[in-house]
Amino acid sequence: MKENFYEHIIHGGDYNPDQWIKTPEIWDEDMRLMNLAHINSATVGIFSWSAVEPEEGVYNFEWLDRVLDNLHENGKYVILATPSGARPAWLAQKYPEVLRVNEEGVRNEYGVRHNHCLTSPLYREKVRNINRIIAERYKNHPAVKMWHISNEYCGECHCELCQNAFRQWLREHYNNDIELLNDKWWNRFWSHQLNDFSQITSPKSRGENHVVGLKLAWKRFVSDQTISFFENEIAPLREITPDIPVTTNFMWLFDGLDLQEFAKHVDIVSWDNYPEWNVGKDTRTAVVSAFVHDVFRSMKGGKPFLMMESTPSVINWRSVNKIPEPGMLAMSSVQAVAHGADSVQYFQWRKSRGGHEKFHGAVVDHCGHENTRVFREVTALGKDLEKLDGVINRKCESRVAIVYDWQNEWVTNMFCGYNNARRDYQKECIKWYEPFWKRGISVDMISMDSDFSHYDAVIAPFLYMLKDGTAERIEKYVNGGGSFVATYLTGIADEDDLCFLGGFPGNGLGKVFGVWAEETDALPENCCVNASFDGKTYEVNHVCDIIHAQGAQVLGTYESEFYKGEPSVTCNGYGKGKAYYVAFRNDGELAGDFCDKLIKELEILPDADIDVPHGVSMRKRGSYIFVINFTDDEKQIKLNGTYRDVLTGEELNNTVMLNKYGYMVLE
Ligand code: GLA
Ligand code: ZN
Repeated sequence: MKENFYEHIIHGGDYNPDQWIKTPEIWDEDMRLMNLAHINSATVGIFSWSAVEPEEGVYNFEWLDRVLDNLHENGKYVILATPSGARPAWLAQKYPEVLRVNEEGVRNEYGVRHNHCLTSPLYREKVRNINRIIAERYKNHPAVKMWHISNEYCGECHCELCQNAFRQWLREHYNNDIELLNDKWWNRFWSHQLNDFSQITSPKSRGENHVVGLKLAWKRFVSDQTISFFENEIAPLREITPDIPVTTNFMWLFDGLDLQEFAKHVDIVSWDNYPEWNVGKDTRTAVVSAFVHDVFRSMKGGKPFLMMESTPSVINWRSVNKIPEPGMLAMSSVQAVAHGADSVQYFQWRKSRGGHEKFHGAVVDHCGHENTRVFREVTALGKDLEKLDGVINRKCESRVAIVYDWQNEWVTNMFCGYNNARRDYQKECIKWYEPFWKRGISVDMISMDSDFSHYDAVIAPFLYMLKDGTAERIEKYVNGGGSFVATYLTGIADEDDLCFLGGFPGNGLGKVFGVWAEETDALPENCCVNASFDGKTYEVNHVCDIIHAQGAQVLGTYESEFYKGEPSVTCNGYGKGKAYYVAFRNDGELAGDFCDKLIKELEILPDADIDVPHGVSMRKRGSYIFVINFTDDEKQIKLNGTYRDVLTGEELNNTVMLNKYGYMVLE
């Protein structure tokens, strides 16, 4: 498998020459412009099914042959796509079963994209066929370095084929035993006992939508069915091009699929990054996009990922699409590289003349030439990226992990109780991530199934669900010397959302944390309850557990309400390690103060001995240190040592100034 086919950071993006098939002179102009812009790669063919198979069984590859040859002659890496993300009209017309059926049971008409049934044997066969033909044709093409499978898999289908596949999935997961399923979903409640799997349908607003076990099962099914669709797509590719790696572009923190599970099936993780820069003047966007990069970076044990899409200027799909200021393109792109991306890729190379995305940013605008601000910024960035070969395939090293688990996110949005208005699982994880980001300390973002053993500290905010084996692994980790931090509503339910009996945190974790959470209080907005931690007072926001220390040391207590004096933060020495329980939610400084203490205690040092002010991030990857200014002010950076500026070759020490939205790469 030639996963590391690239010698330079990949700089390229979605290239749609099929839209310009009648003006091939544009293709030549594309080559000239790509060379000028220091672009070294192109992702081709994503939505080209009707261009390569204009009628059933009639193939046209002349245009693609020429495009790939051109790209090769110009030294570009080609990432070749399979076209299943959108289908030709002839296919939908002749075989309506390939189209999706919505929740109401109505089959969609032909149109848009991502509009296919995940189960349809016919669609699967058609996809396999076109993928096989493309692979056969280009298996020896020297430019083709990677497969881009479909595009941003998403969505679900409720047709009869999918319903039957769902029932089959349930049979497999519940031992073909409807009574087992009844027990797991607690179906005696509201007289929901089932006699047979045939009585089950997908959850929907006019049907069953209160059984969390069913809703979780459906999400898992849709996710598994999408992965099986993907496996079906890559089967001919694995056979014909075993050496060419495959990826598929994931979407942000898309909750419709378990991307942590999906990642196990790709060779390289890639994802599409569209942060909302320029909204407000704070550095919130920088923290959130750093977090998301680290989520994707951590999916394959820290192996580099690709940033498959990002916009070189505006996007077109928010209600208001403000232009990111000059400098933000490079700032955002370098951030991706700092967090583990081996690529900066754009959607899109050239603006289309018509169609839904004609006003979406592109390297080449409708004017068609290189004399634009955006083109100049892309070119300058391309030149800088060419100096960063040393970072390719290098990892970020983390001693701390935060558990951010897809399925826990699902369930925290499903159960009914406590504070239904404020669940915010993702925000809670970001809140615990931010202190490390600010302090220049790399953090891995892992699922609850990951190996904890090589971290000094693992923080698991709001870990409501414990999958089979999770509690045991937490116990083993702490026992072996790890520091584990849990917060309110930890260890409440199992994988089917059945509550653990015998006291929370459940499934044996009570003894690890040395606490019993007897009740959970939910607080309306502006309700003022205070709690202390280490001598400082914090507001309790939205939710808190009322806990009793059963062996744990009390590090803080509630200061009001009928639970005044009860513990709010505890630490339990267990085996060789420590288990902390932070019983309340605080949207202010608690996470930062808590992490400061943890960092000190575990002697976790920042990635480099450089003092960065607020709004500036520092991240080490391999031997390179990336310092990025996300603010619109010039910032002073204090280097406690001598560094080489990788981009200019200069030697630097003492204090250096960083422009607004500026970046430095030091060694
Ligand atoms: C997604 C898709 C692209 C394009 C962009 C626009 O990421 O994969 O095809 O639609 O959004 O932002
Ligand atoms: Zn279907």
